[in-house]
Amino acid sequence: MPEPIVIVGCGGHGREIFGIIAAINDSGGDVWKVAGFLDDAPSEAGLRGVERLGSVWLGPCGRLAGLDARYVIGIGDPRIRAGAADRLGPLGTPASPLVHPAATVGLDNDMADGVVVFAGARITTNVTLGPHVHVNQNATVGHDAVLAAFVQVNPLAAVSGSCVLGRAVLVGTNAAILQGRSVGDGSTVGAGACVVRDVGAERIVKGVPAR
Ligand SMILES: CC(C)(COP(=O)(O)OP(=O)(O)OC[C@H]1O[C@@H](n2cnc3c(N)ncnc32)[C@H](O)[C@@H]1OP(=O)(O)O)[C@@H](O)C(=O)NCCC(=O)NCCS
Repeated sequence: MPEPIVIVGCGGHGREIFGIIAAINDSGGDVWKVAGFLDDAPSEAGLRGVERLGSVWLGPCGRLAGLDARYVIGIGDPRIRAGAADRLGPLGTPASPLVHPAATVGLDNDMADGVVVFAGARITTNVTLGPHVHVNQNATVGHDAVLAAFVQVNPLAAVSGSCVLGRAVLVGTNAAILQGRSVGDGSTVGAGACVVRDVGAERIVKGVPAR
């Protein structure tokens, strides 16, 4: 029997996760049954997108309490995702990691509930992905890296071996973080940046080398 799941967020990120769940079901039998989407304030475009996927908006996030379903947070901004998790935590249980069948995940990795790994992403070995970490399309996370809760790695970014990323760090599209560097809680690495030195908490860095 497929397990019911709801996606929190009708935006593009949430609808992309709908596609990941469909791909998981296509590749390994019916693992999940998407009951629908939750969103406190869905946009018209988001609602139309949900409808085109053949799914439904079930109402605001508080509806999770009345549903016998796991949830996944389909919100790309790591801070907003963290806020949603704080509110949803008492109401339900996040889904076990959702890994697109076209992603590659090596041996000896630790992935918490709420993790999403998108198509083409590569996770190698002894990587820790905390709760609700999302690794987007074609991004890589190297050996022994530790990504704290809510980290967002955007498409094509390269998080090198032994990096340590703090809570709710955003790694922009096509950014590179050199091996062993750390990025503090709440910081943002701009698209295309190359991080060559440790970055403190609550910083925005960009450029090559990132400053
Ligand atoms: C770095 C970033 C966080 C800066 O955001 P911001 O503070 O709102 O920046 P602004 O757009 O106001 O731009 C401020 C300046 O930084 C420059 N800038 C913005 N992003 C930059 C980047 N990634 N690299 C280099 N310079 C950048 C702008 O050109 C502008 O320069 P100027 O003052 O000389 O005109 C953001 O641009 C970014 O790269 N975010 C990641 C987005 C991403 O990965 N999107 C993919 C989603 S799937």
